[in-house]
Amino acid sequence: MHNVPSTNAPMSAAHPRTGAAEAAVTPDQAQRNASERVWGSGGLLRRYGGRRLRPAESVLFDRYRESLSGAVLELGCGGGRLTAHLIGLADSVTGVDLAAAMVTHCRRAYPQATFRQGDLRDLSEFESESWDAIVAGFAVIDVLNDDERQAFLDEAHRLLRPAGMLIFSSHNFACAPLLRGPIRSINATSPVSFASQVLRLPRSTLNRRRLLPFQQVYADHAILNDAAHDFSLLHYYITRDEQERQLARHGFQLCECLRLDGERVGPGELANGFHELHYAATRSPHAGADA
Ligand SMILES: C[S@@+](CC[C@H](N)C(=O)[O-])C[C@H]1O[C@@H](n2cnc3c(N)ncnc32)[C@H](O)[C@@H]1O
Repeated sequence: MHNVPSTNAPMSAAHPRTGAAEAAVTPDQAQRNASERVWGSGGLLRRYGGRRLRPAESVLFDRYRESLSGAVLELGCGGGRLTAHLIGLADSVTGVDLAAAMVTHCRRAYPQATFRQGDLRDLSEFESESWDAIVAGFAVIDVLNDDERQAFLDEAHRLLRPAGMLIFSSHNFACAPLLRGPIRSINATSPVSFASQVLRLPRSTLNRRRLLPFQQVYADHAILNDAAHDFSLLHYYITRDEQERQLARHGFQLCECLRLDGERVGPGELANGFHELHYAATRSPHAGADA
């Protein structure tokens, strides 16, 4: 880790320029505020409205189709990209999303499924052991801070039936040293994309300045400001091995971890260059998060 400061204590919350404006904001609050600002409006519906599965998602949906054939809870369903496929596999699909606009769109596009507006931080409305599978795609759980993530894993354990399946993806901590600021993140894949990135530079730079002071780096996980949505979010990053340990602490057994291209990532492997890792885990048959 060379481009982000390493610390075990929350960093200064003072705004780097004004000093005072955000002095009262903690890193946890900054992460949550950023996430609500980006996702709350549902303004990114067009970006997440397609149906195409990425390779790791195709592999996991195919390999665990049996586990996905019952009652499936999909968290952060967005525009229903994954929902479209889950409907073809499951007896029933319930999608939850923070943004009212996403939920409205999904209700219209996928009448075979049920949708609720809600926050994955609070799943208390759902009964214990009522789901065969929980799917949380596109690293949606990375909007959570560390405490919230542990609470989420406890909740997932409570909600799943014995041997139920948890499928999710998360940012790869091994890629943290590859993260760059707005200027160095510009990639010229096409003239149009290059121009668009340059035009968005002022916004990206302001977001970066605002959120950089809230980064936190630990031995095998971190909360980092990355290029997503013009540097407007703070995301949780974790190594494959620490994710496996975290799952075990909450009563899950890792079935497998995949890179975005669908290749397996084994114990001790870092999957350098792959920013998002995909996980499939089963709930242990015992009740209780520390089973
Ligand atoms: C990256 S998009 C992914 C959408 C979809 N799952 C996909 O794979 O295309 C993340 C989605 O999660 C939703 N989201 C963000 N934070 C959330 C939260 N705390 N609770 C529920 N949904 C949330 C956003 O509104 C957005 O629709």
